[in-house]
Amino acid sequence: MKKIVADHILIKTENPAEDNFIIYLKSENDIPEIFPGNFAEILVPDSPEVFLRRPFSILDVDYKKRIISFYIKAIGKGTSRLGALKSGTKINLIYPLGNRYSIENNLTKVLIVGGGSGIAPFILLGKELKKRDIRATFLIGGRSKKDILMTEEFSKYGEVLMTTEDGTAGEKGLVTQHTVFKTGKFNFDKIYCCGPNPMMKAVGILAREKGIPCEASLENTMACGFGVCLCCVTATHQGNKRVCLEGPVFNVNDLTW
Ligand SMILES: Cc1cc2nc3c(=O)[nH]c(=O)nc-3n(C[C@H](O)[C@H](O)[C@H](O)COP(=O)(O)OP(=O)(O)OC[C@H]3O[C@@H](n4cnc5c(N)ncnc54)[C@H](O)[C@@H]3O)c2cc1C
Ligand code: FES
Repeated sequence: MKKIVADHILIKTENPAEDNFIIYLKSENDIPEIFPGNFAEILVPDSPEVFLRRPFSILDVDYKKRIISFYIKAIGKGTSRLGALKSGTKINLIYPLGNRYSIENNLTKVLIVGGGSGIAPFILLGKELKKRDIRATFLIGGRSKKDILMTEEFSKYGEVLMTTEDGTAGEKGLVTQHTVFKTGKFNFDKIYCCGPNPMMKAVGILAREKGIPCEASLENTMACGFGVCLCCVTATHQGNKRVCLEGPVFNVNDLTW
């Protein structure tokens, strides 16, 4: 897969909720082909204290306009700084990195489960599934209504279900308590998930019990982003794997968690 290391210009920042940002970056050159699950390593500009690049899933791409976008949830120095940058700022990116969600030819109906910043890879995934006529159900979980973002965008690619822990949107409870997992409704060809590890683990257990293949995209802390520093490894039944290179997408049955 062709990778680029290049400055991009920040053309717009949206702020859909407190501490949540979507940044749109314009490339001078053609954008290489990007697949659902790929990520970029972003160098946070003018921030010597954030000297390591930060990894972010690629939210969307417009090849014609050469615009690539990212969803950023501000949780620390790097993410807060990225959300506060002014339009016109140069931002250096390395991408596309990592593997991708696999979309087998026999799929007709899939479930996509996301929480927190884990919703980011699902716009590209939704687009690709729609292109292939695969019916997608998105299940988005959060603590409260304000954590449930981008549902309008997801609804372009499939049905959207929600859970919130306080019951302010969708069904009350954790994503794994949603009625979609109850017998009868839980009949998908595949499950894709991304979000906090406990959530993915719980989804993986339900998938395994029902014999449904399930892929999870891990968000381990990273440094280099391309397989050299070994700081991102995760244990699998085939030994330790680098999440940045052999992942971030793994078959949940391969993970030892
Ligand atoms: C493949 C991949 C894709 C990702 N995609 C997205 C995305 O699309 N949108 C998004 O908002 N975030 C995404 N993340 C997470 C994002 O990279 C981290 O939130 C970011 O690096 C934190 O940087 P910071 O400087 O703001 O935080 P720091 O100041 O470095 O840390 C703040 C706090 O957050 C914790 N932390 C740092 N990194 C992570 C992490 N990866 N997971 C959990 N806790 C962490 C630290 O331990 C610390 O407690 C992704 C991570 C990976 C590996
Ligand atoms: S982040 Fe360096 S090996 Fe994965």
